[in-house]
Amino acid sequence: MFDVLSPLPADPILGLSAAFKEDPNPNKIDLGVGVYKNEQGQTPIVKAVAEAQKVLLANETSKTYITPQGVPGFIQGMLELLLGAGHPALIEDRVAAVQAPGGCGALRILAELLKRCDENLTVWVSDPTWANHIPLIGSAGLNIETYPYFDKSAAGIDFAAMEATLAKVKKGDVVLLHGCCHNPTGADLTKAQWQRVLELAQEREFVPFLDVAYLGFGDGLEEDAYGVRLLTENLPEVVIAASCSKNFGLYRERVGLAAMITKDSKARSIVQSQIQSVARGSYSMPPSYGGALVDIILHDQQLKDMWVSEVDEMRTRMQSLRQLLVDKLKEKGASKDFSFITQQKGMFSYLCITPEQVQQVRREHSVYFVDSSRVNIAGISLSNVDDLATALVSVL
Ligand code: LMR
Repeated sequence: MFDVLSPLPADPILGLSAAFKEDPNPNKIDLGVGVYKNEQGQTPIVKAVAEAQKVLLANETSKTYITPQGVPGFIQGMLELLLGAGHPALIEDRVAAVQAPGGCGALRILAELLKRCDENLTVWVSDPTWANHIPLIGSAGLNIETYPYFDKSAAGIDFAAMEATLAKVKKGDVVLLHGCCHNPTGADLTKAQWQRVLELAQEREFVPFLDVAYLGFGDGLEEDAYGVRLLTENLPEVVIAASCSKNFGLYRERVGLAAMITKDSKARSIVQSQIQSVARGSYSMPPSYGGALVDIILHDQQLKDMWVSEVDEMRTRMQSLRQLLVDKLKEKGASKDFSFITQQKGMFSYLCITPEQVQQVRREHSVYFVDSSRVNIAGISLSNVDDLATALVSVL
């Protein structure tokens, strides 16, 4: 039976990790998969998470199933983090939500839910977008269209083109937006641009689908929630997928939130039953562990402060690495102005070089990053930045 299957090419992001592992070059540099690393190239457990693990171990008395919705304190804590405590949709009981296995799990079950709403539904994604968005959403059977987002030649957002396309989106279509720290480009909308997106959503009556995987890595936890809050405070229906992989460092625990702002409390209860039924038909029950840790952290002021300062530390380190890379490229005589890297936000930067140049730098210098020219900024360190800049300049 399996003879009918043919082998597939490696995943554009995960395949890089496998290739990196196999490379014998002792000076190889990994700027591929989006995982935070410290100066030593390690991804240690976030301290607040390590503390929360002790609390959980001391207090957990059973491994029976949790509720299909997930850990209640996780859901409430995450919603307050994303929307802000006292958000009108929370007060008016208009938010349906479940804990999901990672941001990917959230994206996938939300896509399934959207399919239940309209089997011919179209989801608009930015060009470019995260390499797994289209497979995740497309395999739920939704139509995918793209809207222009990033102009590689100008190394910035082409908002006029984005706006022109969104102005043609049909009523009821869904528009996927990155809440902050756009993956792969690191180019985020300004406040004025978010405002324009809101107006377009109101005019065209499309539904925003916000993917929030890097909250806190752009300008700060509150600042990065600007777009999410603007849209959810002013639109009747918004879909949100959030991940705790990066900002809590809970990658392997698969912790995510699928939330839907609905027009009223009655709609909330219907949507809640539907999303739970989607989850039941996909993986039945959410894993508890990671959500329980986030619940502990968000509800203990000391642990929360500890976590917030760790997020701040990760963010400021990545910001300083951006500057370091720009300075080194200049020092090595780069023929191109890379100062745009310091304007980009979050974990990723789009270097705006060609796939051929990316492959050449991989082949000749063992520097691994995505063909699109996306680099994981957190993979840069004081010890590899010289080699990295030399390698990049050599292929320009
Ligand atoms: C990334 O974009 O590198 C991460 O979100 C990891 C992944 O699953 O692709």
